[in-house]
Amino acid sequence: MLATKQPVLRRFWYAVMPLDHLKDGPKPFTLLGEPIVLFLDAKGEPAALEDRCCHRTAKLSKGWCNNGNIVCGYHGWEYDREGKLVMIPQFPFEQPIPDARARSFRAQARYGYVWVALDEPLSGIPEISEEGDPRYRRIHQFYAKWNTAALRLMENSFDNAHFAFVHKGTFGDINQPKPEKYEIVETDYGFDAETIITIRNPPNAFRISGTSDPTTRRHQRNKWFMPFCRRLDMEYPSGIRHIIFNCATPVSDGEIQVVQILFRNDTEADCSTQELIDWDAAIIAEDRDMLESTDPDAIVDLSRKIEKHMPSDRPGMLMRKRLLELLQAHNECEIPRHETT
Ligand code: FES
Ligand SMILES: [Fe+2]
Repeated sequence: MLATKQPVLRRFWYAVMPLDHLKDGPKPFTLLGEPIVLFLDAKGEPAALEDRCCHRTAKLSKGWCNNGNIVCGYHGWEYDREGKLVMIPQFPFEQPIPDARARSFRAQARYGYVWVALDEPLSGIPEISEEGDPRYRRIHQFYAKWNTAALRLMENSFDNAHFAFVHKGTFGDINQPKPEKYEIVETDYGFDAETIITIRNPPNAFRISGTSDPTTRRHQRNKWFMPFCRRLDMEYPSGIRHIIFNCATPVSDGEIQVVQILFRNDTEADCSTQELIDWDAAIIAEDRDMLESTDPDAIVDLSRKIEKHMPSDRPGMLMRKRLLELLQAHNECEIPRHETT
């Protein structure tokens, strides 16, 4: 599945940029191949327009903000958050502004990020109940571009069979290649997948897990939010909850913006923000290296047989089934089927 070829994917919310990146002016972003410009309106709320001036097509992201409007840097034409042209500085004062606009898109702030939906959303922004809960702190861990497909990151998220191999340098144990099973419950937003796994607990993970035992267990209560968000909720026997939320925001067919937000029920004194960033950076770098080596044209067809014999890939199979149903229900284009079995 190439994301830009599936129009229904425009009907979901994606985390595109930390809100504070917009404090010093408009910024460009490409979402599903669509160049957009993000800026803050007069109330400080994020706005998203096509990144193209209707005068002579200059990128609006090269301009600046004026009282919550965006000004094109080429000749100063000015647009409001709905994309309506509100000022042409070359016109005499009494001359009316023509009815012209730049296309606008839905934009909202949530979890310290700007979220954008290009077309009418089929579902809301995923709920994270720990947001605003005083027992939890929120840490923006990563915001990075990867050369892979969003579906590749999602299938990897629920794939316990890669731990022993990809993560042998951090928490995986190469001598334990048999993955634990998931209990999976389908939901309207995707699925819940629960499992308990044993992991290595090297000294640089002691403060992450809250224990100095050489191995420990993680009770994982994970969620997949269609199409490209996941919640990885890890509870350690120490009582620490380490909840990672990711959005694999599709930039183009071979590029994603990886957003990672962490919620923890401990304090800076228990484990510093930098330790948490460094630990998860080491783990996610292992995933990145492998995922960037994969074909971004991830299949959604269910004819592939091999993985049906791998119980650990039941979440991946269910993910493909749900995505296939979504594409068939909303898209007219043909589903590509060119990955071998
Ligand atoms: S191209 Fe934008 S004002 Fe002329
Ligand atoms: Fe991984």
